[in-house]
Amino acid sequence: MKNIVLIGFMGVGKGSIARAMVKKTAMMALDTDDVIESIENRSIKAIFATEGEEYFRNLERKVARWLKKKVTGTIISTGGGFYKVPALKKVGTIILLNAPFDTIYERIVAHPDAAKKFKKRPLFKDIDKARALYEERLPQYLKVADMVIDVSDKTVDMIAKEIIKKGKKR
Ligand code: S3P
Repeated sequence: MKNIVLIGFMGVGKGSIARAMVKKTAMMALDTDDVIESIENRSIKAIFATEGEEYFRNLERKVARWLKKKVTGTIISTGGGFYKVPALKKVGTIILLNAPFDTIYERIVAHPDAAKKFKKRPLFKDIDKARALYEERLPQYLKVADMVIDVSDKTVDMIAKEIIKKGKKR
């Protein structure tokens, strides 16, 4: 059974949606950032600060190789830049979760833990840089996606149901 790989920009809700999908299916989930934090025994923020982005991207490629070889039938939520790993399609069916940048940004701001959510994301420190990154990535996200889900104005539960329903029809 193929994996379901959730890609999309920081803060779009990949992890929450993966957790909601677990509740509605017999599938389990893992998150590529969690795997990296666990093998490194430190936070993404600390890895970026100490080793730099390229070191982190190397770890993402290593996780992708492992996923391709060893993991099946799993919902995989990913970091916002994971879509760049080579042969991503071999990891599973790629589902892009997307919303306009302002929607994503406003949702994070409205979250009770907003400060923490920005703090843990080194590439979301500066709103203008984050917006430029979103604009640069969007066409690339769309290019690798097998399915695109617009997450604006929908609850996590609605999105999880939509992915499961569309998955059954494929
Ligand atoms: C990144 C997104 C983050 C994390 C790292 C880099 C990115 O994950 O992997 O900070 O390049 O977009 P989230 O998308 O879960 O925030």
